[in-house]
Amino acid sequence: MLEELEVIKTDALTAIGAISDESGLEETRIGFLGKKGRLTAASAGMRDVPKELKKDVGQKLNEVRTAITSALEEKGASLTAARDAAAFSSIDATLPARPLPSGGLHPLSLVLDEAVSILRRMGFALAEGPEIETEWHCFDALNTPEDHPARNESDTFYFENGKLLRTHTSSVQIRTMEKEVPPVRIIAPGSAFRRDEIDATHLSAFNQLEGLYVDEKVTLADLKGTLEYFFRELFGSKTEVRFRPHFFPFTEPSFEVDLKLHATGKAAKWIEIAGCGIVDPAVFTEVTTKRGDAAYDPSGISGFAFGMGIDRLAMIMYGIPDLRLLIENDVRFLRQFA
Ligand code: PHE
Repeated sequence: MLEELEVIKTDALTAIGAISDESGLEETRIGFLGKKGRLTAASAGMRDVPKELKKDVGQKLNEVRTAITSALEEKGASLTAARDAAAFSSIDATLPARPLPSGGLHPLSLVLDEAVSILRRMGFALAEGPEIETEWHCFDALNTPEDHPARNESDTFYFENGKLLRTHTSSVQIRTMEKEVPPVRIIAPGSAFRRDEIDATHLSAFNQLEGLYVDEKVTLADLKGTLEYFFRELFGSKTEVRFRPHFFPFTEPSFEVDLKLHATGKAAKWIEIAGCGIVDPAVFTEVTTKRGDAAYDPSGISGFAFGMGIDRLAMIMYGIPDLRLLIENDVRFLRQFA
């Protein structure tokens, strides 16, 4: 029996040494260790072994099983290693790795970052307010009468509870004055919503950049100087800025700002870019009533406000012909800014 086991061991090790693939490995395992395998058959012979030899034979049996098992394991490992090496043989590990595609900022973020950084250098701090607004913050406090067309159901998204999607970021002027005292110098970028028919120059959800400066003796000269400086920083020092009289309920006097760019090479023409004006004292009076203190008493302070479309800034900055490109997320378009 001991000799027989030794023969099985030698045969097994020889067979394992000759194995060249994984199916051979499995076949050999079954041939020796499987239910009908040679070692399994031999161990069934244990019951005929005389009692005094059982211990030796048992030991030998274990030794042979361990030897075969570990030889099989070793062979398996070396087959796997050989397979991996073959798979890698066609790869040149010294080549530099392929660059990972890195994302880029959306053109709106790019212009906004630039605009915000210019205004921050000028001392404006970032402010924000909710997109879902009360009628009071969006209209009443901004001196906009009940019958103003902007308040119409057909122009504004209303909720059943009477709240609305803000139609401009000017509501942040009110939000800021409710909680801060002058001097106030803020900018508020954010989304605004109108029930506009969507086309190349209109989206129902768009982006604005609001500005508000309230202090003692703020004048129209401050407003003009601020916006002229801002637009020249953004679009180049040759940019011309024109203030055209206009009407907004919450500023008096009010203006629309037009730009003429000379950097683009194209025939320069005036483009409308922003609304602005001197804060109407009626707005301060509303804020004063709400606050219940004299911080915004119109006799002691004045201010200017402006608001512009960030989407429009991006169109001008990059010569984008259609606003819808900004929301379609077509990578062929976006890639150009990365
Ligand atoms: N809120 C105005 C608009 O959306 C722009 C504006 C802002 C005008 C601030 C004057 C002052 O058209």
